[in-house]
Amino acid sequence: MVSKIVFASNNEHKLKEVREILKDIEILPAKSVIDKFEVEENGKSFCENSLIKAKALSKFTDLPVLADDSGLEVFSLNKEPGIYSSRYAGTGRDEDNIKKLLENLKNKTDKKARFTCCMTLIIGDKIIQKEGYVYGVIIDKPKGKNGFGYDPIFIPDGFDITFAEMKPDEKNKLSHRKRALELIKKELENANI
Ligand code: IMP
Repeated sequence: MVSKIVFASNNEHKLKEVREILKDIEILPAKSVIDKFEVEENGKSFCENSLIKAKALSKFTDLPVLADDSGLEVFSLNKEPGIYSSRYAGTGRDEDNIKKLLENLKNKTDKKARFTCCMTLIIGDKIIQKEGYVYGVIIDKPKGKNGFGYDPIFIPDGFDITFAEMKPDEKNKLSHRKRALELIKKELENANI
């Protein structure tokens, strides 16, 4: 049974969510193995970027390393912002990314979207990659204060509130991150790791 994992991210929100989802495992931040974890995300897909992050951090530790690459895909915008979700507006600010997305969606009737997450776990010489999705719609005005990123404008299918209006444990039960991690857990169990 894996008891400790290092998480290859500087995103405190993601770290918090992963800790809540993987309650039985100690999740260490990247800064516990390296002062400044920086890596160029030059992959062409969520899984390529996730693997780049995991491999980069595993150079500094023998512990298992977990990396997340995730983002929002809006179907009427050809799956934009996708892997560019965090840098969509170019300022690194969530409010600016949301503003740009709502501007681009203004004249579209189809507001369907999904969050995608590709998780990579490097454990010994094994690499496990799994994707998780949550489908929903984008609303015209941000609502709610919880979460991060595009949470205030995303209502998951089957709900009438945004991710940012949900309590953290409610979001963590159905999120793309949760779904990818469940698949990783299953693979670990199957392999008796
Ligand atoms: P990454 O750190 O390169 O994987 O970029 C992830 C970006 O995707 C974040 O900065 C957010 O803009 C967006 N994103 C990913 N997951 C979520 C989520 O759960 N809620 C809201 N936005 C998210």
